[in-house]
Amino acid sequence: MVKVTFIERNGSQRVVEAPEGLSVLEIAHRHKLDIEGACEGSLACATCHVVIDPDWFPKLKPASEDEEDMLDLAFGLTATSRLGCQVIVTRELDGIVVRLPPSTRNMAVDK
Ligand code: FES
Repeated sequence: MVKVTFIERNGSQRVVEAPEGLSVLEIAHRHKLDIEGACEGSLACATCHVVIDPDWFPKLKPASEDEEDMLDLAFGLTATSRLGCQVIVTRELDGIVVRLPPSTRNMAVDK
């Protein structure tokens, strides 16, 4: 099992355990965290946007070009943003800290 710390929008921390091989999005859903993931991991939305703790970001596999393209559409993009459905937890990521961004993409204010 791998420990994942989620920092929720209100700043509270949730430490959960998950089996290796699950995506951050799947883990968040299992624990009823507030993250959407509208396309269920098929890289067709950006609603699974999460912000990885800067200490952990370099340990992740780099994002694919498709992920980068989708990320560009994420609201509130940061230098350590990733799509939660594309980050698969492994033993090396035991203890990773993931923050839920303040708000997801909103068509009305996206310009
Ligand atoms: Fe749609 Fe991740 S759930 S891109």
